[in-house]
Amino acid sequence: METKIIKVTATDNKILQKAAELIRDGEVVAFPTETVYGLGANGLDAKASAKIYKAKGRPSDNPLILHICNTKMLAMVTDGLPQMALKIMTAFCPGPLTLVIRKKETVPDSITGGLATVGVRMPGNAIARKFIKLSGVPIAAPSANISGRPSPTTASAVYHDMKGRIPLILDGGASDFGVESTIIDCTEAVPVILRPGAVTKEMLEEIFDEVKIDPALTGKNEVPKAPGMKYRHYAPKAPMIVFEGEYTKVVSAMQNELKKYTAAGQKVGIIASSETLKDIGNNDCYDYGSRDDLYSIAANIYNALLYFDEKNSDIILAEGTPQDGIGLAIMNRLQKASGQNIIHV
Ligand code: TXA
Ligand code: MG
Repeated sequence: METKIIKVTATDNKILQKAAELIRDGEVVAFPTETVYGLGANGLDAKASAKIYKAKGRPSDNPLILHICNTKMLAMVTDGLPQMALKIMTAFCPGPLTLVIRKKETVPDSITGGLATVGVRMPGNAIARKFIKLSGVPIAAPSANISGRPSPTTASAVYHDMKGRIPLILDGGASDFGVESTIIDCTEAVPVILRPGAVTKEMLEEIFDEVKIDPALTGKNEVPKAPGMKYRHYAPKAPMIVFEGEYTKVVSAMQNELKKYTAAGQKVGIIASSETLKDIGNNDCYDYGSRDDLYSIAANIYNALLYFDEKNSDIILAEGTPQDGIGLAIMNRLQKASGQNIIHV
């Protein structure tokens, strides 16, 4: 199958209409969102969504998120919102978050992996919302990568994984946030973060007295409530070590490891902040932005992982970030990408 990439803005009605037709015909279309690119299909059509699982090589017990364009569309996916979900929607939607709520019967079990709940997301990206609106159905969409690989934040990264597997990629430029949406379970007494993202714990605490984090995100032996969080994920080809702690100590620990691996004849890739790279310098480096700007680090992190896949590095050394704000999401992805290979200095 030929895979077309078409550049698009939110006002390109003709192109978006064509993409929407493909969705109505039961096809799969990749599209931009403000978090990462999605691999979309009709979320009420089990057959269409099966094509997503096939294109990604995704395990069938891992449920898909349904993307909607406005609150009217909510009625297609749930019989009613709990108060908590309503409050979160009012504060943050459209935006980079997903609410887990009880599903309507008409949502196929194959999409929710047999769960009684469904993840619902109203993306902030205007192209995505227009595309969903023209399709007229909620769009099921996981990140548009092969299962287990880093999520794509550009159309060319989608093409790399999906070439020959889907008919169309809508190119809306680079994703703003670069990490997937915050998943919030709204079926418990208090909101529980199942996957950290750009809507942070701190932001939720401004509107709720208590916000929990799924214990599986920090404890090694717990089973995560978001099924996808149990898989090794976002993994680059090379093994990776993440360094976390006070900056000066991180820099010297990275320098030491770099020396060690270089002396052993290994090709070392380094992912770090502009500040750290001033000290380490002169190597195969990916500058993920300033330490003072965690949002720019988030936006670059998957590109950094993909960069070293191209370079065929033997080992990657990565600088961690503090776990405040969106830093929690960055560290969660680095933890998973490295298979928990974290050195605390
Ligand atoms: O930012 C995003 O959310 C992107 C863009 C494309 O919207 N999508 C995305 O989808 O990251 P995906 O499929 O790669 O990740 C969805 C995660 C998985 O870990 C899945 O297990 C979890 O959401 N999930 C989906 N439905 C759920 C449910 N009913 N209960 C708990 N977790 C759920
Ligand atoms: Mg994913």
